[in-house]
Amino acid sequence: MDLSSVSDSDIAEANYQGRIFYFCGSYCQERFKNDPGKFQNTPLLKLNNVWKVFKLGQVETQVLKDLSLNIWEGDFVAVIGASGSGKTTVLNMVGLLDRPTSGSVFLRGKDVSLLRDEERAKLRSQTFGFVFQQYNLIPWLTAFENVALPAIFAGKPIEGEKLKANFEEIGLKPRMTHRPFELSGGEQQRVALLRALSNDPEIILGDEPTGNLDSATGNKILAMLINLNKEQKKTFIIVTHDADIADKADQIIALKDGMMVRNHKVQKKIYTE
Ligand SMILES: Nc1ncnc2c1ncn2[C@@H]1O[C@H](COP(=O)(O)OP(=O)(O)OP(=O)(O)O)[C@@H](O)[C@H]1O
Ligand SMILES: [Mg+2]
Repeated sequence: MDLSSVSDSDIAEANYQGRIFYFCGSYCQERFKNDPGKFQNTPLLKLNNVWKVFKLGQVETQVLKDLSLNIWEGDFVAVIGASGSGKTTVLNMVGLLDRPTSGSVFLRGKDVSLLRDEERAKLRSQTFGFVFQQYNLIPWLTAFENVALPAIFAGKPIEGEKLKANFEEIGLKPRMTHRPFELSGGEQQRVALLRALSNDPEIILGDEPTGNLDSATGNKILAMLINLNKEQKKTFIIVTHDADIADKADQIIALKDGMMVRNHKVQKKIYTE
């Protein structure tokens, strides 16, 4: 799909079981046709009129401005936009790492923006795997121990052989006993990725998850993630500057100055029942 190919004039509509649906264009219409039932369900994630304002002293910065979006289960979603446009902030909202200043975040139809911190933390560890821009690996633990940590936190047994096989798959078996400072940036990124996946999360959130990798390694990692998305129906939301990655996504959310300027999606507007 060519990112520049969709304009307002592409808006298409279709009648499905007595309801009228609007689409961002023929691509979205095709997507709907392939799986119309999916879009009747409650979205897995929903942002409703989300504003985020950061206050530094007297200065207020509006970072997200009235953002509303839906993400459906099993989708691969790419978030794109210039530096400072609000991509990481959106990911933090979606992943329950931050709360909106106003507006709501729904997970499986439940408003999670007002839950207590402990409940949010629990939901977060049960639902999400994160790969951040900063890898946030624990410096005094080895690569293997870092990857095993989410299972320890969740009180699950560590599947050592499976974890070793995963290290092998991303070419890091010889580095399992290294500590983060003994790894290159790209190697740390891959360890962070394994850690994000080790708890078998339903939703994987990545902030430029292949940004520091050479293209061959990046493509391999990406193929691994896309495979998880396709085979195991994991929902996969990543921030990326890479048009080739965004091109593979089911849905692309483009941000500019905290506003959504383009969202390839199926939009439901019901005026006939
Ligand atoms: N805690 C904060 N306090 C004040 N301003 C913030 C805070 N976090 C982010 N911002 C501002 O919000 C804007 C959006 O930040 P965000 O990190 O979401 O951008 P981004 O799109 O992820 O950019 P990049 O591609 O550079 O990572 C930026 O202008 C940033 O300076
Ligand atoms: Mg960012």
